[in-house]
Amino acid sequence: MLFRSASLLSLALLSLAAPAAPETEADLAPDVNSLGYLRCSAGSENQVIGYISRSLNSFGEYIGVSPSSDPNDVNHRMLVSLDVTGTGPQALLVKNAPKNNFPFLGGIAGSQGSSIGSDGDYVLIGGTQSTAVGAKPSYCGNTFTDSTNKLRKCASAIWVFNSTSNQVTPQWTNDDGTAVTGNVGYVNEAFVITGDKKEFEDTWEDKVEWVTLTLEN
Ligand SMILES: *[C@@H]1O[C@H](CO)[C@@H](O)[C@H](O)[C@H]1NC(C)=O
Repeated sequence: MLFRSASLLSLALLSLAAPAAPETEADLAPDVNSLGYLRCSAGSENQVIGYISRSLNSFGEYIGVSPSSDPNDVNHRMLVSLDVTGTGPQALLVKNAPKNNFPFLGGIAGSQGSSIGSDGDYVLIGGTQSTAVGAKPSYCGNTFTDSTNKLRKCASAIWVFNSTSNQVTPQWTNDDGTAVTGNVGYVNEAFVITGDKKEFEDTWEDKVEWVTLTLEN
């Protein structure tokens, strides 16, 4: 929001300073994109535990970065571009992505397939190519397949922004077209999206940190 009003202000100043400059439609359109970090908080107190980082692990999955273990964490946080006026699912462009051909923060099918719901199945979070809003998972290019040579489906337009809370929540479309609001967990240095936290924990017996993602700018 701050970012948005600051750019509107500079547009106003610019037109005052240069009244003769022709105004184009692009100049007049408000900038709806906001840049920010994706903050991860957890627990009943919603304590900040870290951020999604701009780094991928060896499987091509984005990892987290925590201020408590990395004094230089600001430089390692992922910076995303988000449409703050959007109400439905949208794709988040990673502005400081590692050099790769998969610039969006997307979901990539887990080992059990590309649908989630009432079982322990999950979707990974990595870099993907662009897919349409509401599209079923497809074999779009992604960092997991690129790193592991394992073919996995993916989707990019899976993030819903709440402009009141600044929360960013995944909405995943399954193979049958149904949309599922996902839970985000941090487990074994990777983020997962799953439909049912308890089923996920029971299935994989891993220590999971369930997080809320919030745009911080
Ligand atoms: C957005 O966040 C606010 C504040 O937490 C909440 O009251 C509201 O229900 C949320 N909106 C949606 C659509 O989830």
